[in-house]
Amino acid sequence: RKGANGLDKIVLREARGSSAEVYLYGGHVTSWKNDHGAELLFVSSKAAFKPPKAIRGGIPICFPQFGSHGSLEQHGFARNRFWRVDPVPPPIPTNTLSKAFVDLILKPSEEDMKIWPQSFEFRLRAFTFTFAYHTYLSVSDISEVRVEGLETLDYLDNLQNKERFTEQGDALTFESEVDKIYLSTPTKIAILDHEKKRTFVLRKDGLPDAVVWNPWDKKAKAMADFGDDEYKHMLCVEAAAVEKPITLKPGEEWKGRQELSAVPSSYCSGQ
Ligand code: BG6
Repeated sequence: RKGANGLDKIVLREARGSSAEVYLYGGHVTSWKNDHGAELLFVSSKAAFKPPKAIRGGIPICFPQFGSHGSLEQHGFARNRFWRVDPVPPPIPTNTLSKAFVDLILKPSEEDMKIWPQSFEFRLRAFTFTFAYHTYLSVSDISEVRVEGLETLDYLDNLQNKERFTEQGDALTFESEVDKIYLSTPTKIAILDHEKKRTFVLRKDGLPDAVVWNPWDKKAKAMADFGDDEYKHMLCVEAAAVEKPITLKPGEEWKGRQELSAVPSSYCSGQ
């Protein structure tokens, strides 16, 4: 299907009514709706959908570099390249057989090889990268949101020269800009949206860190592709590997998995 600005997108639908949209540009999930048709991801009303700019919102993929942790462009180049659909994807686990899915592939162009000369050489020698599923969750009111699972952990603070601190106290709440990389987190993180009575559960494998980002008012105003007040209705919680870059030796495979679910809050209390 054609999406915004004629860019190709794939629409996945489940029999029960949930759906998702993925753009080939960036391999970027831009929509995830539950069985009732409610949108669960945040995409800015000012998102440009204009290569070479990454789409603002959804789930951009930060690869082979997260943020400015390296010499490549911010968040690497995977989010502003065109991916391909794999026509013969490898078999999926039998317990997910009934799920709608699509496999997208990114292979480097000659230009990419100049800035990150790894892809074909990976058969010959190891390469190293950092990574994040840069997930923009849609929330009703950021000041009513709590994040559980990151309390008492160490984090790197992007707002303070990536210095290391330790999180104190209870679940995270938000009253100003935040841009932190929590280190070696549990595999389950819960994001509670009190007003919507909805809890997002993020589970991850192979991705030890978790980034939490909200630009708040000043930075929101400074971003051309983000509405001035939209920071109130989003929160990025990103399964990531940042502190310890991943190194793959020839022939080695790496899997980084993020699973998101959204459930009514009452089902989660006490867990
Ligand atoms: C977050 C980073 O993951 O992404 C922030 O931690 C950054 O530092 C934000 O500002 C948005 O990045 P970009 O490149 O999409 O504007």
